[in-house]
Amino acid sequence: MDGFSGFPHLGHGIGLRPPHYAAVIAEHPPVDWFEVISENFMVEGGNPRRVLRQVREHYPIVLHGVSLSLGSVDPVDEAYLDRLAALAAAVEPAWISDHLCWSSFGGHTAHDLWPLPFTEESLDHVVRRVERVQERLGRRILVENVSSYVQFASSQLTEWEFLAALAERADCGLLLDVNNVYVSARNHGFSAEVFLQGIPRDRVGQYHLAGHSDHGTHLLDTHDHPICDPVWELYRSAVRRFGPVATLIERDDHIPPLGEVVAESHRAAEIEASITGTTAPVGHVAWR
Ligand SMILES: [Fe+2]
Repeated sequence: MDGFSGFPHLGHGIGLRPPHYAAVIAEHPPVDWFEVISENFMVEGGNPRRVLRQVREHYPIVLHGVSLSLGSVDPVDEAYLDRLAALAAAVEPAWISDHLCWSSFGGHTAHDLWPLPFTEESLDHVVRRVERVQERLGRRILVENVSSYVQFASSQLTEWEFLAALAERADCGLLLDVNNVYVSARNHGFSAEVFLQGIPRDRVGQYHLAGHSDHGTHLLDTHDHPICDPVWELYRSAVRRFGPVATLIERDDHIPPLGEVVAESHRAAEIEASITGTTAPVGHVAWR
């Protein structure tokens, strides 16, 4: 089976970003879906929600969060979950995702996505928290692998073993960020292909593709460059292993004209089509 049960192949989408709002509404660009950063739309009323309503009339939407802090030892932020559930009720997203990371401690929240020690203890902890999130939202979520720059000496599992066990035990899906796999593999010296081989075929509900910055000694996950050739190659490997799965181009800084991001989405569709032998679905909204 391709992809993750209950998570349809939406086709090839892009992140909805403020510099593109007007063009998206006016032109309805030929992409299949949009992903939005949940936290940017949690306040009712105002321009962001108006834009989102208009975009939603024409495209499927996926909510992608950065604040669940699934690895934190703080209590699950129930007020945040309430706001997320309310946003989901209004938007009816195809699905909701967040990251395997922690970003809060002692009630203080940062905007970084810090990695976890991959231990049995932290796995038990994250499984419970994902279960709580899914119970509150009334749906399964996708959990994304982050880019990392340090590793914990206490880790007993590889990142891919941790993700595979989390998906199985919490019955969640995985958002496979292909760029993050590449960045972490380069930074830590593991094989990105071995990472992919360690992820179960039937748990991947979405891919992310993005650019990064090369600082010589390390790669930084900046989302401010076009996708580089090795990440496109790794995407090919992912499609060969996991099949056609909803694919999203992430661009968060140095945002180019809309057409350039759309073109990367079309390139992803062409790669998928060349591997699976299917017709690229870009521009055809197959699901609402
Ligand atoms: Fe990502």
